[in-house]
Amino acid sequence: MSRASRKVASPRVVCVEDLLPLARRRVPKAVFDYLDGGAEGEVTLRENCRAFEDVTFRPRHAVAFSQCDLRTRVLSFDLALPFLLAPVGYSRLMHPGGEVAAARAAGKAGTAYILSTISGHKLEDVKAGSSGPVLYQLYLLGGRAAGEAVIERARVAGFAGLVVTIDTPVSGIRERDHRNGMKELISGSLLQKIPFLPNILSHPGWLIGFLLDGGIQALPNVVIPGKGPMPLLDVNAALASSAVTWADFSWIRDCWRGPIVVKGVLTGDDARRAVDEGAAAISVSNHGGRQLDGVPASLRALPEVVAAVNGQVEILMDGGIRRGTDIVKALCLGARAVLCGRAYAYGLAASGEAGIARAIEILRADLDRTLRLLGCSSVAALDRSYVNVPKSWERC
Ligand SMILES: Cc1cc2nc3c(=O)[nH]c(=O)nc-3n(C[C@H](O)[C@H](O)[C@H](O)COP(=O)(O)O)c2cc1C
Repeated sequence: MSRASRKVASPRVVCVEDLLPLARRRVPKAVFDYLDGGAEGEVTLRENCRAFEDVTFRPRHAVAFSQCDLRTRVLSFDLALPFLLAPVGYSRLMHPGGEVAAARAAGKAGTAYILSTISGHKLEDVKAGSSGPVLYQLYLLGGRAAGEAVIERARVAGFAGLVVTIDTPVSGIRERDHRNGMKELISGSLLQKIPFLPNILSHPGWLIGFLLDGGIQALPNVVIPGKGPMPLLDVNAALASSAVTWADFSWIRDCWRGPIVVKGVLTGDDARRAVDEGAAAISVSNHGGRQLDGVPASLRALPEVVAAVNGQVEILMDGGIRRGTDIVKALCLGARAVLCGRAYAYGLAASGEAGIARAIEILRADLDRTLRLLGCSSVAALDRSYVNVPKSWERC
């Protein structure tokens, strides 16, 4: 067992937040801030976590169960846990195992993994690494020709669903990344990198792993016909010219011919539109506070979306999940399951697959304990009667 793995397995790692200092220590500041940070003043980033404090529990006491049932069904897949691992771009920067490690950890835990378009590993390798369902998150980087090619590859590889992210017409400005020279470090010339190099050289363990891994030069799943994989140099500019719009959905449906999750919905209107465009599920999400700063916490937007959809499609949510109690609150407000982003990515940055497994285990144990304390025997039985919601939320 490596030193990093021993640390995440230590009894002092009691909650997901305990993985954060371990991640901060192992990776350079630029990588940690890329993972941890949000857009602009990070108001939405903070609010995503804080909003869970507004919802309180209404437990039913003097009841006990021999076991609690944490299983749920998402897109007709049986999952052992009511949370999936969210798409996290550049996971391979955090640890060489990256996306393959995350998919493997999800599969071992009996849940699903969503692979970001911004992946350093080939989608076929990620799928092969997991024993559970793997979904592909689509940005139209490289336009429809590249999109069609990747959708076909995902189908052939056996991906379980397509997650179309609609909140990224341009990348949000993450100020920490600019200050740390993230762009220069990823894709700049040696001369451009020089001012930011001390940041990286101070983490030799991470640097050696990164170099032995071969670095990340290009996106292996964004293959431009006639040109090959998209170089990292081109990614930000390409994002700005590849916004997904509702007009793309009939084309995406025709290419994919399988279940589609629309990720990035924050209003009832967009939710109804997603249903009209054939979504099988919606993820209520503000991209973990990394896109438009000042939008509400995902939890706050959830009741409006649940009401608008009225049971027509499955509702997922993501943003700010750090504890099992957060997951239970989201399920009480109508989510079928949640996506965890940073909660597992801190573990990945701290010690690869072992760190992700630790994060998943913490959340699993949290869920079991929370259900018992709440007096509810299964996640399927959770509903609004188990929580108090602020009066101002009741309009939804
Ligand atoms: C470092 C990082 C990279 C991300 N990359 C993507 C991405 O490539 N595609 C996407 O749809 N969402 C991406 N997200 C957003 C997550 O899928 C998810 O919506 C968000 O992390 C949820 O918030 P949480 O981190 O508080 O759990 C990313 C999030 C983080 C933290």
